[in-house]
Amino acid sequence: MEQYIIKGGTPLRGEVDISGAKNAALAILAAAIMTDETVTIDNLPDVRDINVLLQAIEGIGAVVVRESRNCVKINGGTIRSVTVDYEYIRKIRASYYLLGALLGRFREAEVALPGGCDIGTRPIDQHIKGFKAMGANVKIEHGMIKTKADRLHGNHIYMDVVSVGATINVMLAAALAEGNTILENAAKEPHVVDVANMLNSMGANIKGAGTDVIRIKGVAKLHKTEYSVIPDQIEAGTFMFAAAATKGDILVKNVIPKHLEAITAKLLEIGCTIEEYDDAVRVIGADELYCTQVKTLPYPGYPTDMQPQIVVTLALSKGTSIVTESIFENRFKYVAELNRMGANIKVEGNTAIIDGVSELTGAEINAPDLRAGAALVMAGLAAKGFTIIDDIVYIQRGYENFEEKLKNLGANIEKVTSEKEAMKFKMKVS
Ligand code: EPZ
Repeated sequence: MEQYIIKGGTPLRGEVDISGAKNAALAILAAAIMTDETVTIDNLPDVRDINVLLQAIEGIGAVVVRESRNCVKINGGTIRSVTVDYEYIRKIRASYYLLGALLGRFREAEVALPGGCDIGTRPIDQHIKGFKAMGANVKIEHGMIKTKADRLHGNHIYMDVVSVGATINVMLAAALAEGNTILENAAKEPHVVDVANMLNSMGANIKGAGTDVIRIKGVAKLHKTEYSVIPDQIEAGTFMFAAAATKGDILVKNVIPKHLEAITAKLLEIGCTIEEYDDAVRVIGADELYCTQVKTLPYPGYPTDMQPQIVVTLALSKGTSIVTESIFENRFKYVAELNRMGANIKVEGNTAIIDGVSELTGAEINAPDLRAGAALVMAGLAAKGFTIIDDIVYIQRGYENFEEKLKNLGANIEKVTSEKEAMKFKMKVS
């Protein structure tokens, strides 16, 4: 089993290039099969969730050609099945985008119920509500979601909760439905906009993505495109907070600074210095950081996917901070691990009360999910001594080249598979 071993205490310094956004790319890959022409997708992050989805797309008959590590060509003209029950697909959340994509194109889809990080119950009722409003039948049988529409038509749909997944899924299906769809209370995340832009480049007619009302005029057919995925806001934010937590200085390159505003605002508030460029952000840590309060919210609020990273940083900041998780109910599981490293955090319901400590100490800990896993790596990098992180498979789901990028910033981190390799690392860095 792969683990990370880290010797902490070195401030991270230097430059890091941010990869394409995983959560945009997952939906964009699904959109790519909505035409029988070839779609080229560039700036695709080479991470596990993406590779699983590509295998599933190949599994239903599409032709997938990996032009390079970060570029893929997909031709959906040869799709022979609308049933996606590939062994690993159950492990990724974004499998649900194949429902919207296949329903739109073939008026029928069967996809294994999605898994993903265990951060809460994560219902999909809003996706189902959207498909039903467009005239589709939806039923759940034997762990599969089955949907079929004799006529798929536009409708006026009001989302009861702001959901990234449901917004994108309805957008996918509605792009090829008959007539107009108006989606109200839509999610406004940058990846929703990216998927709309990509679909429009295929000939769809989607207006208003990025606001809470999206208007989609169904078209009869989509066509080929070449599209480059936006930079990953959450990967960027993770490196920004890593600069803060390790008292380092990182130039985070290939980003859209506008997408990072909520993160930048919190870093400034706790005492970091930020320099903003056209497509880069520099974060300079400070010897002493200060407490703050934050509540996770849909975009443009502070992202839930950046919650563990700010908690790790606030665990090392002066005073008492309060972090409220309002999106997922089970996203503080990593706090017990952090407390084993010397943090002083109490969780009450959906709130973490953090009493800042002057240092963390290395320990053997588990990554409970993707973002918490990355945040625990940050904690290990900031802590005194050695940290070993198990279950790094979660981190590999969403961070491309994570340990390489950290090493380039001066981190002492190694991926190891045995006690012997861990000992070798310890000797090397001692
Ligand atoms: C996406 O999940 C991301 N995943 C998550 O990223 C991210 O945390 C989340 O959006 C919020 O930004 C992907 O893009 C693959 P939601 P998603 O639907 O779409 C409730 C990561 O680390 N809800 O926006 O599943 C839901 O329970 C992952 O990269 C319903 O009630 O999230 C939650 O409370 C983890 N009914 C809220 O809405 C529904 O039908 C927002 O969830 C759908 C959602």
